[in-house]
Amino acid sequence: MEFKFKRFLVTGGAGFIGSSFIRYGLQNILGCEKIINLDLLTYAANLKNLVPIERDPRYFFVQGDICDEALVEKLCLDHQIDAIVHFAAMSHVDRSIADPKAFYETNVGGTLRLLEVVRRSPQIHFHHISTDEVYGSLSQEGHFTENSPYRPNSPYAASKAASDHFVRAYAHTYGLSTTVSHCTNNYGPCQHVEKFIPHMIYGCYHRKPLPIYGNGVNRRDWIFVDDHSQAVWLILERGKRGEVYDIGGGAELKNIDLLHTLIQAFAEAKQEDPRELSSLVTFIADRPGHDFRYAIDCSKIHQELGWRPSHTISTGIHKTIGWYLENPDRLHWV
Ligand SMILES: NC(=O)c1ccc[n+]([C@@H]2O[C@H](COP(=O)([O-])OP(=O)(O)OC[C@H]3O[C@@H](n4cnc5c(N)ncnc54)[C@H](O)[C@@H]3O)[C@@H](O)[C@H]2O)c1
Repeated sequence: MEFKFKRFLVTGGAGFIGSSFIRYGLQNILGCEKIINLDLLTYAANLKNLVPIERDPRYFFVQGDICDEALVEKLCLDHQIDAIVHFAAMSHVDRSIADPKAFYETNVGGTLRLLEVVRRSPQIHFHHISTDEVYGSLSQEGHFTENSPYRPNSPYAASKAASDHFVRAYAHTYGLSTTVSHCTNNYGPCQHVEKFIPHMIYGCYHRKPLPIYGNGVNRRDWIFVDDHSQAVWLILERGKRGEVYDIGGGAELKNIDLLHTLIQAFAEAKQEDPRELSSLVTFIADRPGHDFRYAIDCSKIHQELGWRPSHTISTGIHKTIGWYLENPDRLHWV
């Protein structure tokens, strides 16, 4: 792929999805001259995620806060950045329920600071990474589309929704060049152990309880993280300025069914008895305000940009479990 943008500032690139995006870009995208990874290195970050590309001369890491407007501006000027790809965020719903203000400050305030920099340097394109959770919860039927109304239910979703609105307003009011993508639940290598799939792999590996909210019937659509990264690179290459794209994995599952799929795959990988692992499943009190169902209609990105996920849940889970078994140091709480 030949690219219209060449020098990228990626925020939150030491986290789960941002690091996949950087690895993918440096390994696959022709014409990518430089990627600056700006990350505060919160508990969720891990620089080991970047080991495969850390010696690439096009890659630079800067520890810093997206709320530090002067730093962001200096990086953009010094490196003649032509696109910002904004992943940095507080990302865990349970933590947002415990401490909503931190989510407001990073997710809303941080995005606003970045937009202010772009307002002063409007030649920079801004791609905002958002979530399908801004659309709220679905009942048994239907899918979210780019035209679904915003109905965020958790403080995390509300902070992402607010940041989306600022991106839209800055594009509309100041004529900035922006794109936004809403993605469904990601999984894959390098995800923090607090999230559902690695948490369950952790439990299987260490023979700890496998906690599942409520009765386990809440449904999510799952996407392998590299498929998400590929979609974002494609939006940067061919997406239309001002457009919003929904990205999904086409793999909708009840939480309890996903857990049993994971148990089965883990038992096969380790040649263990799945019945012993199943005995670790523990139903716990439901998350307050727990959204019942997320599901994404990806026809826009498929029809306009030709994107489809390349992993099924089975191939993605197999790769993910294989990666954690090769990297058991990542199955610890930090
Ligand atoms: N994980 C998912 O399933 C999912 C789904 C859809 C959208 N998203 C969005 O994708 C983005 C990345 O999610 P993730 O799962 O990789 O998150 P993550 O928690 O793994 O990583 C977030 C990264 O942002 C960094 N960060 C946090 N605050 C910062 C700040 N003030 N300045 C600089 N860096 C900061 C952290 O250090 C970390 O490296 C987020 O915007 C999230 O809302 C995630």
